[in-house]
Amino acid sequence: MRVPFHPILDDDEEPDCTIYHNGEAIPAKTGEPIAAALLAAGVKVFRETAKRRRPRGIYCGIGRCTDCVMVVDGEPNVRTCVTPARAGMRIETQKGLGEWKAP
Ligand code: FES
Repeated sequence: MRVPFHPILDDDEEPDCTIYHNGEAIPAKTGEPIAAALLAAGVKVFRETAKRRRPRGIYCGIGRCTDCVMVVDGEPNVRTCVTPARAGMRIETQKGLGEWKAP
């Protein structure tokens, strides 16, 4: 799902790192939004709602709606549309409101 060529953006870089979505390795470009890497890999469900467990994914794409929140490296409620990817990140589908773990 990546755009292979764009006449204006001129972004032809290939993924240079690996992130892990629910344990599965996914290629990513360092610094691109986590959500972009997930969408490129075909991931569309980022979280489940608290009451009815309905799937949610990208909606606004600019960090306002919180539909894209996921558990990133153990921290819940991370807005993946505005959080840059870096090598080795562990991203999990968030169930409900997410659980904070004791440090
Ligand atoms: S898609 Fe709306 S905050 Fe990320």
